[in-house]
Parts: sequence; C-alpha cells; structure tokens
Amino acid sequence: MRIDIISVLPEMFKGLVDCSILKRAQDKQIVEIIIHNLRDYTTNKHRHVDDYPFGGEAGMVLQIEPIDNAISGLKSQRTYDEIIYTSPDGEVFNQQIANQMSSLDNIIILCGHYKGIDYRVREHLITREISIGDYVLTGGELAAAVMADAIVRLIPGAIGDEQSALSDSFQDNLLAPPVYTRPAEYKGWKVPDILLSGHEAKIDEWKLQQSIERTKHLRPDLLDD
Ligand code: ADE
Repeated sequence: MRIDIISVLPEMFKGLVDCSILKRAQDKQIVEIIIHNLRDYTTNKHRHVDDYPFGGEAGMVLQIEPIDNAISGLKSQRTYDEIIYTSPDGEVFNQQIANQMSSLDNIIILCGHYKGIDYRVREHLITREISIGDYVLTGGELAAAVMADAIVRLIPGAIGDEQSALSDSFQDNLLAPPVYTRPAEYKGWKVPDILLSGHEAKIDEWKLQQSIERTKHLRPDLLDD
C-alpha cells in the first residue's frame, strides 16, 4: 500500500514515519508513506499556500492551485482508490473504515488547516472526508497520523502477530478482554486463575465473556449495532 500525505506542516510527521510500527512496516516494504510539503507545489515566489477568503470572513484559506498541482501530479503517476480530506465535518473514522482502507492500494490524505480549504477542492478533487472525532484540531496532521497508524497496523505482516490485530477492541464490535503478564501475583493482586489453568477452550470462553461484560459496561452503544 502507498499513502501520500499532503500537508503544510510536513515536519509534524517525522516521528510517525521514522519510528514505531509504521517504520517497521515501511522497512518490510508493506507500506510506503510519502509526505509532501504543499509549499513545493506553489508557483509564487514566496511559496504562499493560503489567501483571504472571499466574502470577508476572518482567517486564511488554503488555495486550490497548489493542492490541485499536488494531487494532479500524483494522479498522473498512479491510480488512487481514495483522496481523503481530513476535516471535522467528515464521516467519523472508526475500525470499520480502517479495515476498508487497509485493503486499498493507493490513497492520498490531504491535511486541512486554519480556516479550511477552498471549497472547490472538496467539490472536485476529494473522494472522501474523514473526521477523527467531534472536536476541532488546529490542522489535519494529527488526524492523518491517527488514520495512517490505524490503517497500516491492519495490513497483514505489519505487526508481529497478525492474530493480535484481529483481536483488537472494536474489531468485532466488542472491547478487548483484559490481558496480564508475569508475575502472577503482585502486592497480593492476582491474575485471574482461569488464565493460569492451561484450559484453552475455557480461557477463550472467559475472554469472550469478559469482552461482552466490558462492552456492556463501558461502551453499550457498540452493542446497539
Ligand atoms: N481537522 C480539524 N479537526 C479535525 C478532526 N476532528 N478530524 C479530522 N480533521 C480535523
């Protein structure tokens, strides 16, 4: 999979691309994440990417030209399955969308900024608008990073144990069961006996029961689906 991210703050992605699971997935050539500086697609001397909005509101708006240059340039090299714009107005990102996107070949994520972008970008260039929650961030960079992380870890081979992505919270509308590790007892706080019993079937049953109980208690809305 290839993910092209277009941003006015490319330096914000350094930690994302250079370490963690995303770094490992790139080293294994499971994914290629390319960060583009929107300013590299400007044609003006000062590399301005924004301007005042028509109609006289406060704040600056990202201009269509550098965005179109960036997207058209990428589209001339390969076919993109989705061109995503990060925005608080978008459909709310969840595990289902992450699953869907992890099976795509090429996506572009355009990070929004300041007051927004020229609406014609959204009308003519973008195929999907995604929000990561009902709050407003300063820009779309953190949203793009969240999405890239959630998507890439689902690509087979990206994380060591494929089984562990399948047993994530939300993967089947249930929260994950509790996990424990050594020591089996610490300050008198004990790991549930069942996990030490060696009875695989009973352990699986216990885990499912725990998932159901935790979901009922913490996120009953997930069971409504
Ligand atoms: N840009 C600003 N706020 C955002 C949000 N909640 N989700 C995605 N992009 C954003």
